[in-house]
Amino acid sequence: MHIKSAQFVISNSDVDKCPPSLLPEYAFIGRSNVGKSSLINSICNKKSLAKTSSRPGKTQLINHFLINNNWHLVDLPGYGYARVSKTQKKVFQSFITQYFKKRKQLMNAFLLIDVRHQPQTIDLNFMQWLGENQIPFSLVFTKADKLKPRALEKNIRDYTSAMLASAWEELPPVFVTSSLQRTGGEELLNYIDQLNSLYHSN
Ligand code: GTP
Ligand code: MG
Repeated sequence: MHIKSAQFVISNSDVDKCPPSLLPEYAFIGRSNVGKSSLINSICNKKSLAKTSSRPGKTQLINHFLINNNWHLVDLPGYGYARVSKTQKKVFQSFITQYFKKRKQLMNAFLLIDVRHQPQTIDLNFMQWLGENQIPFSLVFTKADKLKPRALEKNIRDYTSAMLASAWEELPPVFVTSSLQRTGGEELLNYIDQLNSLYHSN
């Protein structure tokens, strides 16, 4: 899919104030600093569409972007950031949970995982939660540029094996990306394109 236009629409912490349109929607979620906002900029080919930072905890709200006047991309705050207060964590948690539970036009959640890391409980728990709530998701490995090809392959294999060894009978779609080198975005956009077609044919 070719991105012809990408615009910021609205930020908020209340799912009921998200855009009311029924355009198909895709959310990027994952630990703080995993590269959610960077990947949005990379696939949209727009440097400062979503705000990024080397310090974790940059994205604090639900951010809607309108793509090709036809679908929404959503940048969410990261989870697992140790330095926010407990109260702040609870507020985040509650609006993110509400977002996933209430947003009927959500077609797929892209769960981002830093490819350098071993499976982390917080991510596995979140996948479990998505599964229990019947929210379709895909795995998106980020920062692929940080590893050499062999280590990259090994980490992905170890990660997916750990998933299969735990709660999952089959793997969700898997994407491998680098925002720095701008790789993997095309596959991700093609997947979105397929889901958009399904949405519009129903
Ligand atoms: P929060 O909004 O805090 O949850 O973080 P985020 O997941 O949106 O991460 P963000 O996109 O702000 O990126 C965090 C840091 O990782 C920044 O310093 C980025 O430059 C860096 N980063 C993101 N993607 C990549 C990548 O593909 N490769 C490399 N090398 N660095 C990346
Ligand atoms: Mg962010």
